[in-house]
Amino acid sequence: MMNLTIVGTGYVGLVTGVCFAEFGYSVTCIDKDTERLEKLKSGTCPFFEPGMDKLLDKHINKTKLLSFASSIKNNSENTDIFFITVGTPTRRLEDEADLSFVWQVADEISESIKKYCLVVTKSTVPVGTTSEVKKIISNKVDQKLFDVVSNPEFLREGSAIDDFIRPDRVVIGTDNKKSENIMKELYRPLFLKETPIVATSIETSEIIKYASNSFLATKIAFINEVADLCEVVGADVQQVAHAMGIDKRIGSKFLNAGPGFGGSCFPKDVKAFASTAKKKNIDLSIINAVNKSNQDRIIKISNKISSKLKNNSTITFLGLSFKPNTDDVRDSTSMKIASNLFDQGFKVQCYDPEAMSNSKKENSNLVFFNSAYEACEGSSAIIIGTEWNEFRALNFEKISKILKEKIIFDLRNIYIPKDLKEMGYEYYGTGK
Ligand SMILES: NC(=O)c1ccc[n+]([C@@H]2O[C@H](COP(=O)([O-])OP(=O)(O)OC[C@H]3O[C@@H](n4cnc5c(N)ncnc54)[C@H](O)[C@@H]3O)[C@@H](O)[C@H]2O)c1
Repeated sequence: MMNLTIVGTGYVGLVTGVCFAEFGYSVTCIDKDTERLEKLKSGTCPFFEPGMDKLLDKHINKTKLLSFASSIKNNSENTDIFFITVGTPTRRLEDEADLSFVWQVADEISESIKKYCLVVTKSTVPVGTTSEVKKIISNKVDQKLFDVVSNPEFLREGSAIDDFIRPDRVVIGTDNKKSENIMKELYRPLFLKETPIVATSIETSEIIKYASNSFLATKIAFINEVADLCEVVGADVQQVAHAMGIDKRIGSKFLNAGPGFGGSCFPKDVKAFASTAKKKNIDLSIINAVNKSNQDRIIKISNKISSKLKNNSTITFLGLSFKPNTDDVRDSTSMKIASNLFDQGFKVQCYDPEAMSNSKKENSNLVFFNSAYEACEGSSAIIIGTEWNEFRALNFEKISKILKEKIIFDLRNIYIPKDLKEMGYEYYGTGK
């Protein structure tokens, strides 16, 4: 049985750990955040991810394949494969990825290698990072005792467990056959389900991750700009996207117009991709334009909302996480727009099914309520920021009685405009 050590127990590290335990491997998850670790040891997931609590309980208490520790040292003697799954956020005031956590972990791993193992970068890292990890480790460890591998992760928060267990593909970047074979053996349970395993060089694998995320971000930015035109000429972007998406060469995914892309991946990856290319004297002009278009969009949407409302009125913001089914508010467009509106003088009454605690930490000026209905009390406008399912079925008869004014900004196009207009609402969708 393979022994795996996963370093960094966040959204990616924990899902990786739990799912590899589900495959039958023995997994130790390491994190330096002791508060997070205590929760995990007691079987509580520190963040919201559907299905996670059940698998944690199964593998901590029943199969006992999953354990947690605060340091690599003394907890990884038998490790066959180390996974680096720490964060790679944008560096302060720059577009580059901050790789300090990765370097630190590489150094810590190098203190613990006693027998042959693989060191895998699963964090999203710019091209060249994995070979830099190799250099760091070879400062202390004989090169015969380890190999490095790039194995980027493509899971989506909110459906992370399913994405990990049923991925569209697994990408493995290696510089020799031995490590490629070990990685293929690791993912054999998926291979049996005929998941495509794409084996490449390390550099190719690193680029695949950034190119994939940047391409998806480009689709979103593209349809958002088309939405702006639709709004001006009286066309309907949802119908445009639907008809475009039927064309198999285009595809319907990531063509929903909205307030722009956010989250812990797309904004930072788009910036880091362009910034890495710039260092190599390559101008990724399309990616730069996508980044600018998305940043401008936050301002544009905030101003569109405020221009329709009376100064200093009370408004309701529903949905704060960067997308449904997660409590993650990192780079959330909802949080940015809600905060902009607060800065413009509005009183912002908020509600989110799962992201309230993270949102409060990010901006305590917003006023938080325990339900969508409470957040609508005395409000002059409703803004749908994130398309949680529970907002699709809101009782507008009930809401109409508690609002001060019936104005709605459906940033995610989840309602049928005619229905709300018939109830007396002033309705503003996106791109229609
Ligand atoms: N979140 C996603 O949906 C997603 C999807 C695909 C890829 N990724 C990539 O995966 C990486 C991790 O993302 P995340 O969202 O899981 O990050 P995260 O911030 O949720 O988790 C990172 C964890 O690493 C821990 N950590 C930092 N330094 C450490 C150290 N020296 N030793 C032990 N633990 C340490 C932190 O305490 C934290 O718990 C990033 O590169 C991200 O771009 C994320």
